[in-house]
Amino acid sequence: MASNAPIAVFDSGVGGLSVLREIHARLPNESLLYVADSGHVPYGEKSPEFIRERCRELSRFLLNQGAKMLVLACNTATVAGVAELRELYPDIPVVGMEPAVKPAAAATQSGVVGVLATTGTLKSAKFAALLDRFASDVRVVTQPCPGLVECIEAGELDSAHTRELLQGFVTPLLDEGCDTLILGCTHYPFIKPLLQTMLPPSISLIDTGAAVARQVQRLLSERGLLAEGPAQPTRFWTTGNPPELSRILPLLWGEACAVDALS
Ligand code: DGL
Repeated sequence: MASNAPIAVFDSGVGGLSVLREIHARLPNESLLYVADSGHVPYGEKSPEFIRERCRELSRFLLNQGAKMLVLACNTATVAGVAELRELYPDIPVVGMEPAVKPAAAATQSGVVGVLATTGTLKSAKFAALLDRFASDVRVVTQPCPGLVECIEAGELDSAHTRELLQGFVTPLLDEGCDTLILGCTHYPFIKPLLQTMLPPSISLIDTGAAVARQVQRLLSERGLLAEGPAQPTRFWTTGNPPELSRILPLLWGEACAVDALS
């Protein structure tokens, strides 16, 4: 495997761009491929079997593009599909992500941690195991957020509708005494500025994008696969509507880029 081969990143939609940004910032020599599975978003309410099938399909496509690594930039896809992908591709490093329970449990002063995530993530055995392992000394209050991913997919990062929906999810967590909130879905960092306007300044928000970028760097370095650069332009595909993703890329990725259709 050539070290200058690209890193492949995918998500149910645009949420994984929050992780792609962190990988790009940390590893600017790396060429990146990104697939938004927006034709099938949201994953949060879908069955694990359906999501596993999507993971297989997208991974096959991305590996055919010559990727040296797969990053599941999606908590929901990770709980459903990461184990199977590692079995299918034992020679390819596969990075998944999970809600940042361990750092949140270490950070809380009130002893109450809130988790905003999809229904699929919160219902999973993997999440239950994460709580058993790292949250035995704190109280964890979970909050599924149906509808929020759709707002972010539409680029509504600050609309009245997004604000109202988010307020309904956050208020019960504050009422429970949470002082630390985990953003357990890769879409949510994009509404962090909105969220901060609703929270007292003493509340900490924790997400996982930067930790994933560090893990990507660690695994590539261990295998001698860090690229020397220069990076090729990042390539984007969507199973949804390419003009729609092109429209939103400047907002979420910071620059306009070509987007190809993936059927
Ligand atoms: N971005 C995804 C996650 O991190 C899932 C969003 C969805 O499709 O429901 O969980």
